[in-house]
Amino acid sequence: MTIYLDNAATSFPKPESVYRAADHALRNLGGSPGRGSHRMALDAGRQLLDTRESVAEVFGIRNSARVVFTANATEAINLALFGLLNPGDRVVTSTMEHNAVVRPLHALQARGVQVVKVPPGPDGRLHPANVREAVMDDLQATRMVVLTHASNVSGSIQPVEDLGPWCRNQGVLLLVDAAQTAGYLPIDVESMGIDLLAAPGHKHLMGPPGCGLLYVREGLQPAPLIYGGSGADSSSPLAPEHLPERLESGTANLPALAGLHAGITFLRETGLYNVRRHKTELLAHLLDGLRSLPGIRLYGPSDPAMLAGVLSFNLAGRDPAEIAYWLDTEHAICVRAGLHCAPDAHRSLGTFPRGTLRVSPGYFSRHEDLQVLLHTLSALTKSP
Ligand SMILES: Cc1ncc(COP(=O)(O)O)c(C=O)c1O
Repeated sequence: MTIYLDNAATSFPKPESVYRAADHALRNLGGSPGRGSHRMALDAGRQLLDTRESVAEVFGIRNSARVVFTANATEAINLALFGLLNPGDRVVTSTMEHNAVVRPLHALQARGVQVVKVPPGPDGRLHPANVREAVMDDLQATRMVVLTHASNVSGSIQPVEDLGPWCRNQGVLLLVDAAQTAGYLPIDVESMGIDLLAAPGHKHLMGPPGCGLLYVREGLQPAPLIYGGSGADSSSPLAPEHLPERLESGTANLPALAGLHAGITFLRETGLYNVRRHKTELLAHLLDGLRSLPGIRLYGPSDPAMLAGVLSFNLAGRDPAEIAYWLDTEHAICVRAGLHCAPDAHRSLGTFPRGTLRVSPGYFSRHEDLQVLLHTLSALTKSP
């Protein structure tokens, strides 16, 4: 049996209810939401609204119309950055970001946006004072702070609660990449001072691939990334002014979004706290086991409660890519190796260019799975 320990990429398996909801949508919700007023389009529209409202509830969003559906977190981040930044704007970010942030910002630099990157401490965590200092170096030009809520390499959780209210006081926008924390850590956009929240639907929120979302705070009006039909204001060549239609041109991925609704319902019924506790216990098990192996080098915070679902490590003298290949082909264990799309983070942690082995258990992972992984790695440490 395959052991899947790559939930930071996408969660697997999904709850049964997610499969059922996606299947139901594909078979029964055949209309395109917001397109036409026949019964099937209305049923599809109702499903879309249910999902939007469940997302709003998870993140403390008062008006669900401020939730924009995207294909994934990457699209949500691109939408926020390209939609709001202009030449001359300054952005403060960190060296712990995923390429979903690094690459659009790099492209925007060529259009005259200035990007300042703040490095973390040795465990991958940012010191809020360093971010504040980088903003204050040129407060007037700084339009946005862009931070991953937790690193997908080291699992380090960043001090968003601390920085959000401060950014708001300074009049600087805060965009949070919650790819590794949406559905894992409690997030409340109001109390945390988050203006823009980008999240995938397919990781901790348990939805199918092909869904993500961007929360846009009231009063912000990003330019669309793509233009087209929205089912509203059809006589005008302009994109509608109101959200979500302004930023959601084209037919929605209803099966994925129906699955996302079921995923969120599953999380709510199981309890976010219980889901997180199980994942933290699995990480604690893994950490304990790894610490007893010779030649192991661990990265990120040493306390499993401070890790957001992932653990990165290396074995002395071994290439992580070779180990991952061997685990997969010889032992049917799926983990990820390499740079995990976050090269700057590896430069910060001293693991560039080879990267690390990354293990990310999911809610359906079992302690036995980690036992098998540890046993297999232990055999490797004993072999020449
Ligand atoms: C921190 C971080 N940001 C962004 C992304 C991109 O997410 P998506 O695959 O939904 O575009 C990932 C994916 O692994 C990630 O870990």
